[in-house]
Amino acid sequence: MAVATREVDAWNSSLNIPLQEEDKEIYDLIQKEKYRQFSGLELIASENFTSLAVMEANGSPLTNKYSEGLPGARYYGGNEYIDQVENLCRKRALQAFQLNPEEWGVNVQPYSGSTANFCALTALLRPHDRLMGLDLPSGGHLTHGWQTSKKKISTSSIYFESMPYQADPVTGFIDYDKLEENANLFRPKLIICGASAYSREFDYVRLRKIADQHGAYLLADIAHISGLVATREMNNPFELCDVVTTTTHKTLRGPRAGLIFFRKKKDELENRVNSAVFPSNQGGPHNNTIAAIAVALKQVATPEFQQYAKQVCANAKALGDALLSYGYKLVTGGTDNHLILWDLKPIKLTGSKVEKICDMVNITLNKNSVPGDVNMVSPGGVRVGTPALTSRSFKEQDFVKVAEYLHRVVQIAIKVQEKSGSKMMKDFVVACQDVEEISALKKEVEAFATSFPMPVLPKLIHIQV
Ligand SMILES: Cc1ncc(COP(=O)(O)O)c(C=O)c1O
Repeated sequence: MAVATREVDAWNSSLNIPLQEEDKEIYDLIQKEKYRQFSGLELIASENFTSLAVMEANGSPLTNKYSEGLPGARYYGGNEYIDQVENLCRKRALQAFQLNPEEWGVNVQPYSGSTANFCALTALLRPHDRLMGLDLPSGGHLTHGWQTSKKKISTSSIYFESMPYQADPVTGFIDYDKLEENANLFRPKLIICGASAYSREFDYVRLRKIADQHGAYLLADIAHISGLVATREMNNPFELCDVVTTTTHKTLRGPRAGLIFFRKKKDELENRVNSAVFPSNQGGPHNNTIAAIAVALKQVATPEFQQYAKQVCANAKALGDALLSYGYKLVTGGTDNHLILWDLKPIKLTGSKVEKICDMVNITLNKNSVPGDVNMVSPGGVRVGTPALTSRSFKEQDFVKVAEYLHRVVQIAIKVQEKSGSKMMKDFVVACQDVEEISALKKEVEAFATSFPMPVLPKLIHIQV
């Protein structure tokens, strides 16, 4: 083994100092964030706790390397090992989703889910071509064509013409008949399925049929459910779609990034997707992240991950059933996946108010619009997901306890709203002060949360906050 014998020059003196010494401010903030994650109930449906091995790869010297291009065809030298990392990642991605490498290829370079989606649109469409995606208030994602009556918000509506399809405001299920009817008028070039806040399966057969009526491509964005698709806890979109995009940090439990799968034999999609990523939209790939994705995908292909995915769904069902037993309303009445969408309108609360009290008692979730909402600034529900806490070994009975905490949050919110004497958020925030039930519940939640294991953190942690 070679040993460096020369002295470090003064201008490089900071390069080998651990973070704790070099930058105490950032170090301390990281410790505080670690403790926040450990001491609370993380219910944001798009979040998860990745593994130690993924973190190690993500924080590795692979971050130092430029490697524009694809393995074997780079614009830079020195990519002998980087090529092997990216090839391994591509192979594992196909294996994790049980795809035949003759039929499917994958680009593992997208920096995030949004970038992956814009790259996919670049590959499939010409500027101003027409696309249809699930409307944001119905649970769709910004990148599926979101615009308001006043403004084109997402690049997917700025550079393309977008017409959304929606969930039925009464049942909460996607209205496929209306989609078909509108597609007959709009004649899209692309239909996007997939969502950020939809708790049910997609009807891929119906979607394919509608796409075929117009010679349109069908793209599934499985960002939220990819861990459940890989393990076949949910239906397999690969059977019927042309392109599939995903993030890697939600149910897939990897680092923050995106993937684009494409049918190799159709319309030169391989070349179109790869060149849409680089050089059309991105520069050098983040090789540390690609290595970390490879590690996560290796884990996805294990029987343990299969168990994890099953438990994610069982936990969501247990949580949903427990909330229903308190008499609350869930959009669609339940869930097929990892999340529930809780309609707070029948109890005359907004998502913001429930989110606010949750924050004060160490429960993290997000306000979310629910079908039928008219006021986009004040959504009528909250989205609650189970992937992160399932990574902390929560089981069904633990989610029954989580439901009890949420029930108490809602009871507190109703009381505070009455006390505030108005419907305004600012009055609500003032009325939250010195409410004893809030501090009592926070203590209980903290004791409950810290009794569960936490990936990456040792069993016992002593963090000063
Ligand atoms: C369905 C869907 N697609 C794409 C994205 C965007 O991913 P990212 O935040 O990595 O850009 C999200 C993120 O929430 C998502 O839910």
